[in-house]
Amino acid sequence: MKKYKLPWRSLKLSLFSSILTMSFTSTTTAQEVATVLADQIEGKNVLITGTSINGIGFETARVLAKYANLVIITGYNSERLTLSKEAIEKEVPGANIRSLVLDLSSRVAVRKAATEVNAYPEPIHVLINNAAAAVGKFKLTVDGLENQIATDHINPFLFTKLLTPKLLAALTSTYTPRVLFVSSGGHALVPGGVNLTTLAHPDPEKYAPYPTYWEAKSANILTAIELSKRAEGKINAYSLNPGLIFTNGFQKEDSKVELIAMGLILPDGSPNKEGWPWKTIPQGAATTVVTAFDPKLDDKSGSYLDDCVEANDQIAPSSSDPETAAKLWEITEEILGEAFVF
Ligand SMILES: NC(=O)c1ccc[n+]([C@@H]2O[C@H](COP(=O)([O-])OP(=O)(O)OC[C@H]3O[C@@H](n4cnc5c(N)ncnc54)[C@H](OP(=O)(O)O)[C@@H]3O)[C@@H](O)[C@H]2O)c1
Ligand SMILES: *[C@@H]1O[C@H](CO)[C@@H](O)[C@H](O)[C@H]1NC(C)=O
Repeated sequence: MKKYKLPWRSLKLSLFSSILTMSFTSTTTAQEVATVLADQIEGKNVLITGTSINGIGFETARVLAKYANLVIITGYNSERLTLSKEAIEKEVPGANIRSLVLDLSSRVAVRKAATEVNAYPEPIHVLINNAAAAVGKFKLTVDGLENQIATDHINPFLFTKLLTPKLLAALTSTYTPRVLFVSSGGHALVPGGVNLTTLAHPDPEKYAPYPTYWEAKSANILTAIELSKRAEGKINAYSLNPGLIFTNGFQKEDSKVELIAMGLILPDGSPNKEGWPWKTIPQGAATTVVTAFDPKLDDKSGSYLDDCVEANDQIAPSSSDPETAAKLWEITEEILGEAFVF
């Protein structure tokens, strides 16, 4: 007797086409996006910064690991980095995960990590600048910069610059490498955007933790815009708002007081569900996966995404002004003492 076979293939195809017609929204998860964009992710090498467990960088890496050729995860704390690697390997047997120690608060550490990456045999298709310093008390970095500005903007700029040869090695007639900057809708909460005058001259008297964070996030959007322009089609750059997600960043002692004052978290440390549009971590990583791989964005370099769709109209004027973007680029080069040219 002939064995009856279930029509798995046609079942899978019909499921696939129904997902294809589905549009991504605020509730879409990173896994749902990756299922649709699997063809795009396959074979690609991705480097993502800031991948501690319980963060959106980890979730992005975990989901991409199922499809990508190589996922490079990074962290400044090697124990947490190992925990992330083991967690992904446990869940995705056979995943090609490589860990890289990267401390974005220090220029020397960034150079060391970049040298390591540049010695890898593979090109890098997608660089996801996701890491951000904990929002907290005023702190100077070893290079004499304010910690958040250095970790969230200046040093990711340097890291991106140093990795450009690896990104350009992925450029072909049919594929353009991508650089992402994970920004925040909070960028609009500082009306002037990033203050170009204070960037190189941190003043502890005028320091405020969250406004400084939002300034750095404004710098992320401007950097994506300017990188996109300067790369002239050789690299596509984007920024994005992941949404509001209860990650490690909301559980640090230093930021708790401020978060409670803003009403985002309750005095017991739990997220305030009333009036705030919280996303789950899987939903929070979805916009990153769209921005990294959606082919519809090929001709939209420089764009900002929110809730998995292009949302350039949501960029505050001070964070979309091309002149500010150009000035920020030059000031950042001056601070680093080196140019970022193609
Ligand atoms: N969650 C939200 O609601 C929200 C909203 C808007 C934007 N974002 C953005 O989303 C991104 C990810 O944040 P998240 O919410 O997932 O928080 P998170 O879990 O705290 O992620 C931040 C990551 O950056 C790493 N990091 C911190 N300082 C670093 C340094 N000096 N060098 C290298 N890595 C460093 C952290 O490592 P450790 O864990 O080892 O400290 C962590 O892995 C950030 O860019 C954030 O601004 C988040
Ligand atoms: C930038 O900071 C300086 C010094 O604190 C201040 O005088 C100036 O008004 C700020 N500029 C903007 C656009 O906020």
